[in-house]
Amino acid sequence: MAARKFFVGGNWKMNGNKAAIDVIVERLNGSINTSVETVCAPPQCYLDYTKSKLDSSLFVAAQNCYKVEKGAFTGDISPAMLKDLGVSHVILGHSERRHVFGESDQLVADKCAHALANDLTVIACIGEKLEEREAGQTEAVNVRQLTAIKNAISDWSKVVIAYEPVWAIGTGKTATPDQAQEVHEELRKWLASEVSKEVSDSIRIIYGGSVTGANCKDLAKKPDIDGFLVGGASLKPEFVDIINARD
Ligand code: 13P
Repeated sequence: MAARKFFVGGNWKMNGNKAAIDVIVERLNGSINTSVETVCAPPQCYLDYTKSKLDSSLFVAAQNCYKVEKGAFTGDISPAMLKDLGVSHVILGHSERRHVFGESDQLVADKCAHALANDLTVIACIGEKLEEREAGQTEAVNVRQLTAIKNAISDWSKVVIAYEPVWAIGTGKTATPDQAQEVHEELRKWLASEVSKEVSDSIRIIYGGSVTGANCKDLAKKPDIDGFLVGGASLKPEFVDIINARD
């Protein structure tokens, strides 16, 4: 099986200012294990500032971008603009984009295709809501979201899948390592049968949802959990412990 490089992203969401970013950057610069792909995703107005401050061994991600290069799309940004800033990664399909801003599976898939065509690494988020899990629809929902992406792209080499159950985001209710492993394993099996064995073996499937310094090590022991997408704890000193969860 191909070795999968551990991947940890900090999704700062709509938080912070320059002073807060300076504090986070100071904690990370010089102290990060470079065998882990570590990515920080600041609000878009701070992308350039964060990029200018972070060590070049750390990557910067946008939290979103649109599906075309330019035009009359007030308030949005394009992959071409991210590339121009030296931003290498973008989070797409986050549950807050899907459920607060009403992004459809198709829009998320179109965004993924356009970002990949511009050579960005895409952190593609999927995940079920609590009522969907309780109705036994966890796999169906995740497969539906992933199928839209599969139908829009052909090259998976720059895709990281983030499984983020909506009920675990910002709630303090983490999926147990077994619950997360079960879904990751199902997704990997689905990729093997619907895309290819090679993609299934090599793609990183990371977990997000109330990951902390306290629970990251147990999650990281699971064979199909290749890293994390971290919200609240990525703003705190424990983010360094999460990056080092596999040590
Ligand atoms: P929390 O870690 O705050 O639950 O957020 C997870 C998340 O949404 C990361 O994208």
